[in-house]
Amino acid sequence: MAAPAAVTSCRWSSMAVVIGLVMVAATTFSAAPVAAGPVPAIYVLGDSLADVGNNNHLVTLLRADFAHNGIDYPGHKATGRFSNGKNSVDFLADSLGLASPPPYLAVAKSSNANYANGVNFASGGAGVSNATNKDQCLSFDKQLDYLSSVSASLAQSLGQSQAATHLAKSLFAITIGSNDIIHYAKSSSSSSSDPSPQPFVDALAQTLSAQLQRLYDMGARKLVFLGVGPVGCCPSLRELSSTKDCSAVANDAAVRYNAAAASLLGAMKAKHADMSYALFDSSAALLRFIDSPAANGFAEAKAACCGLGDMNAKIGCTPLSLYCANRTGYVFWDFYHPTEATARKLTAMAFDGSAPLISPMNIRQLSAL
Ligand SMILES: *[C@@H]1O[C@H](CO)[C@@H](O)[C@H](O)[C@H]1NC(C)=O
Ligand SMILES: *[C@@H]1O[C@H](CO)[C@@H](O)[C@H](O)[C@H]1NC(C)=O
Repeated sequence: MAAPAAVTSCRWSSMAVVIGLVMVAATTFSAAPVAAGPVPAIYVLGDSLADVGNNNHLVTLLRADFAHNGIDYPGHKATGRFSNGKNSVDFLADSLGLASPPPYLAVAKSSNANYANGVNFASGGAGVSNATNKDQCLSFDKQLDYLSSVSASLAQSLGQSQAATHLAKSLFAITIGSNDIIHYAKSSSSSSSDPSPQPFVDALAQTLSAQLQRLYDMGARKLVFLGVGPVGCCPSLRELSSTKDCSAVANDAAVRYNAAAASLLGAMKAKHADMSYALFDSSAALLRFIDSPAANGFAEAKAACCGLGDMNAKIGCTPLSLYCANRTGYVFWDFYHPTEATARKLTAMAFDGSAPLISPMNIRQLSAL
């Protein structure tokens, strides 16, 4: 059983319930989008924090379509989610009364692919940079390429102007950057006198800026950007430290990356008045749980629930790994990823919370525009 190598990120997650009154009107098989709420669909791009099964269709070690993943998912199914249960985009979709969008690589195989109800391009291992886990995942650029063909397909089935309206009303949820930072931190962990991570972060932000502009050019107008969490506190990175402390290099880079994302989204908004966004500070949010587990309903914020070795962080979650009995008490499911419980709580904060954690508006407000 191949242990998932450096999979994705540890990050944040989401939430729950809420389910507003946004009922999706019974979807017919016509191509026309029919949601009754203000958000007809969600399009997801990103890494393993949002992957719902794309990597099952790739030749890669970065996968989660085996036990004990999915142990708390309906039917105890290992769907390819890097979690014991649902992930953040599942909770985001729940909150909007929508079905969690299916993996693009599964939908694209069907002869009758319908993209009007949203689709998920996220792929475990993906980073802002093409070089991050190259050939082991769908890079963010590749995901944008796929979105471009989805957009063309929508224009064909709905007509140019209706497709544009549909995309403008839809949410584009993005979670990307954790893997780039994890790789950076691992490669710089040998020297204690590292230079500032700012040049690295600036280069990432420059690439990200072009990628988000491309998203805008393809018609996205409502962006949900889930910032990078305190990846230095992933069990995997903690385990590398002799004192089992969080990697300060990784956490610092995450904070700087989120600040860069805030500034580039602000600049985009200034340039394009018809675009709106909600940026979640996953780092500050998840650090609350890690710094005060009990106050946030957790018993264990350091060790992974599922894995093997020190802190269950030497080896990932495989059928041979051990796993904890009480998954709601753990912040981390495996050595890189949050539990469903963490995802649920973080998504709740992003959906209905307020600045500075989610700004300049929360996801509920963004959805209502
Ligand atoms: C990344 O890959 C895309 C193709 O998916 C390509 O268009 C782009 O030029 C690449 N970027 C770099 C920096 O290599
Ligand atoms: C699981 O852990 C949480 C957090 O410590 C606790 O509140 C809950 O009661 C536990 N559940 C069970 C079944 O022990």
